[in-house]
Formats: sequence, C-alpha cells, structure tokens
Amino acid sequence: MPAQAARSKNLDAIVSDEAFLWGDDVLEAYHLPAEADMHRQWSTQIWPLLSKYDIDYSHSVDLACGHGRNTAMLSPLSQKVTLVDVNGENIEFCKKRFRGDRFAFVKTSGYDLCDIGDVSVSFVYSFDAMVHFDLAIVQAYVKEFARILRPGGYGFIHHSNCMEAFGKDFRDVQGWRNFNSREIFARMCERFGMQVVEQQLLDWGPKDHDCFTVFRKPVEPVTITPELVERYWQTVVDGARASALRQTATLTQALKAAQDRVSELETRLGCSSSQDPGAADPMQQIEVQLQQRLGWLGLQIGGALRIAKQQAQLLRSQLSSRSGS
Ligand SMILES: C[S@@+](CC[C@H](N)C(=O)[O-])C[C@H]1O[C@@H](n2cnc3c(N)ncnc32)[C@H](O)[C@@H]1O
Repeated sequence: MPAQAARSKNLDAIVSDEAFLWGDDVLEAYHLPAEADMHRQWSTQIWPLLSKYDIDYSHSVDLACGHGRNTAMLSPLSQKVTLVDVNGENIEFCKKRFRGDRFAFVKTSGYDLCDIGDVSVSFVYSFDAMVHFDLAIVQAYVKEFARILRPGGYGFIHHSNCMEAFGKDFRDVQGWRNFNSREIFARMCERFGMQVVEQQLLDWGPKDHDCFTVFRKPVEPVTITPELVERYWQTVVDGARASALRQTATLTQALKAAQDRVSELETRLGCSSSQDPGAADPMQQIEVQLQQRLGWLGLQIGGALRIAKQQAQLLRSQLSSRSGS
C-alpha cells in the first residue's frame, strides 16, 4: 500500500475510534455548560491573548466547532466564519444557529481541510478540542493550516501540554488530554513553515496541562530544511522517551515501596510469609494482598515498557518521520 494511503487508513482508524464523542448525546453533559462558560473563558483567557496581536479576522476558521460557542465570539470580528467539525450532528446544529452567507460549514474527514482553498483564510482558531486529538491528527491539521492561511495570517490553537498521556488512551487521562507538549507543537509549526509568536501554559485541572499557541504564517515563505524536520521529529521522540521513562520510574518506585512494606511486615510478624500461608491473621492477609500488588506492579512495568515501545513505533509511522510529508 502506498505510504499516503497507509497514513490515511491510520488516521481514519483514529478518527472513528476517538472523534465522535461530542455529538447531540452530550448536550447536557458538555455543550450547555460549555456554552454557559464561554464569556468567562473568552474574556479572561482567550481575548487577553488575541488582543495583543494585529489579527485579521476577515475569514476565520473555527476548527472542531461543536455547537458554535466560539463562532459566536468570532462572528462579530469576522466577515466570514467557516465552521469545521467531524461530527455531522454538530454541523447540522450550527447550520440552524448561524444563518446567512457569512457562514460556511465543512464536515471534515477528521484530519483534513480539503474543502477550504489554499491561502484563502486569514485566521485559524480552535479551542477546547485539539487537547483531545491524537498527535498524528494534530500534525495533519497543522499541515493544513500552513496551506490554507494567507501569508501573514495568524493561528490560535488550544492544545495539550500533557506528556504523561504518552502511551495511554486519552480517555484514561485526567481531562481526556492527549499526548502533546508546548515544545512539540512549536516544532511542528516550524516544520510546516510557520512561526510561533507566543505560547501560554494553562492550568486546566492539573498545573500547565494545556497550552495556547499563537502562530503566524510568514509573509515571505521559509525554506523547510531537513534540520527543521529533524528538530521536530527529535522533539517528539525525546518527549515520548522522557515520558515513558518517567512512567516506568514511578512504577519502579511503587514496586520498591511495596517490597519494603512486605519486608517490614515480615519483620513485625517475626516470620516470612511462606512459613504460615493459611493463617487468618489480619496482618498476614494484608501481606498476601501486598504480594499480589507486587506481582501486579511488575506486570504494569512490563506493560508500560511494551506500550512505550509500540507507541514510539506508531508515532514513527504516523508522523512519517524523516521522509516528512
Ligand atoms: C470538546 S468539543 C469542543 C467543541 C467546541 N470547540 C467548543 O469549545 O465548544 C470537541 C469537538 O471536537 C470535534 N472533533 C473531535 N475530533 C475531531 C477531528 N478529528 N476533527 C474535527 N473535529 C473533531 C467534536 O466533534 C467536537 O465538536
């Protein structure tokens, strides 16, 4: 299978597994409370950053628009807003909410903006969505931003800065954050020929879990050198490796703590666990539980290393590494 087809197949699989979690069924659980919080988030977090720059909003793209609460903020600033979402339910909702030819709607594959023309957009924006996206999906979109933005056009992207999500299903991470970081996103922008203007870390739940990146497509196109591609790739691999090592170190510490606890119990009981296996003594029961936990932790360490290895391989193929599309 040609590399491009294999890549799309990979991305399709990620989208079908991870993207359709915010449709009509989460109206009460997500869209309504999010809508109620929009003015606070816009006025205290988003606008203070955007207003520092001379952004041309004439044609804005709201990527992963949901029910359109961000478009409601962008609309007074823009002549045209293109609302993009992978979920047809959200697109249908927004078509009813925003009427008139100032609004265009795109139901995306989940990784491209092929319905939006080259150099036709002055501002790309995404809030409270890309934090959940797989790195390969984020990369595919950043490549598209570089294509659709006019020279001098700005982007504002809210993404995760959550290294501990490496090797995990994002739904098992607090706030459903996916693996990404401030550095990886910055190198990714550069790799596709854009300049990072400012990055702000945010405490959304855990400290510094998220990041706002403002970037700009330069007026004069930059040459994408092999060094830029390599710098990006190396940042991803370094981040993945550091995260895997941290996770393993945490588990190793837990294993050591459990071992120490078993030894302490053995000393207090004045015997080793193997001498009295059937005893109903509560201390002995705790000891048995700890022994089980030890075995479990050992398995977890093996599992974490295996997942880290698989994930590094997956990242390698998904991000097309050095051949760099
Ligand atoms: C948490 S909601 C946020 C919606 C909106 N940005 C907001 O702030 O209210 C996540 C949104 O991302 C959309 N989404 C998820 N994966 C996507 C993908 N790969 N491409 C485009 N949209 C996606 C979902 O359909 C949903 O609308």
